[in-house]
Amino acid sequence: MAVAARFAGVTARAAAAASRATPVRALASAAVDQKLDAKDSSITYFKIYRWDPDTPEQAPHLMTYPIDRSECGPMVLDALIKIKDEQDPTLTFRRSCREGICGSCAMNLNGTNGLACLSFIPDDTNTVTIHPLPHMSVIKDLVPDMTNFYKQYSSIKPWLQRSGDDAASANTEHLQSEGDRRKLDGMYECILCACCSTSCPSYWWNSEKYMGPAVLMQAYRWVSDSRDHMKKERLAALDDEFSLYRCHQIMNCSRVCPKGLNPARAIAKLMKEMDQAYA
Ligand code: SF4
Ligand code: SF4
Ligand code: FES
Repeated sequence: MAVAARFAGVTARAAAAASRATPVRALASAAVDQKLDAKDSSITYFKIYRWDPDTPEQAPHLMTYPIDRSECGPMVLDALIKIKDEQDPTLTFRRSCREGICGSCAMNLNGTNGLACLSFIPDDTNTVTIHPLPHMSVIKDLVPDMTNFYKQYSSIKPWLQRSGDDAASANTEHLQSEGDRRKLDGMYECILCACCSTSCPSYWWNSEKYMGPAVLMQAYRWVSDSRDHMKKERLAALDDEFSLYRCHQIMNCSRVCPKGLNPARAIAKLMKEMDQAYA
């Protein structure tokens, strides 16, 4: 896989690149920029992060695309699809379900992580600036490299583990009381979009070693599951300096979750379980 530009420091590099080479599309973008002052209430200008691994000589930069809201669906994803269809087929982004289920359209919208398909095009501003999820390597344009995130998710063994005689009975139904089932509410709904992890300052600086809020909430989801027999092993796997304890309860993660979940609370409960296990 071609790797990748770091999101940080992009603006300065984009300015430097613009002074070196001025491709046709950048000229068009500059012309559109000039119109930003002319207030046209039905037009929203989308300033979108662009970087193409096939043209590494061109630094990451923002390109501006005008969209007439009266001719577009209401969501940011509608606008992105319209831009790709009608203005620039090279614009690259992930999407699938367009209803907040797959998690693939996660990106940074006007400075806040969210899902493009669940985010309305704002009508109180005529500019929407879109970047890929922060502090991830970029594969192309708005597509972040999720390899490390999925590797960390895999490391917590996110599946039911049984011990003893039950371990061999893969086809057995494992019953759970209604109360135990309710303990999983607020965690099983996670769609692994990574909006929370990529808004966490601790994850920005230690993403190789700190698991981040999305993965830790899923770790706690399995620690809390009455049907699982590996609680002790699951806790032991997180008992080091970085995996769990880099969370400082700043709460950025819970503020941005597009599904309304609270990974910071799950992390606090996980720390409590850890305290009790090793008291
Ligand atoms: S509460 Fe913890 S996981 Fe959430 S943003 Fe803060 S440090 Fe990161
Ligand atoms: S907790 Fe919320 S923000 Fe984090 S990965 Fe799950 S759905 Fe996305
Ligand atoms: S397209 Fe699936 S969550 Fe947005």
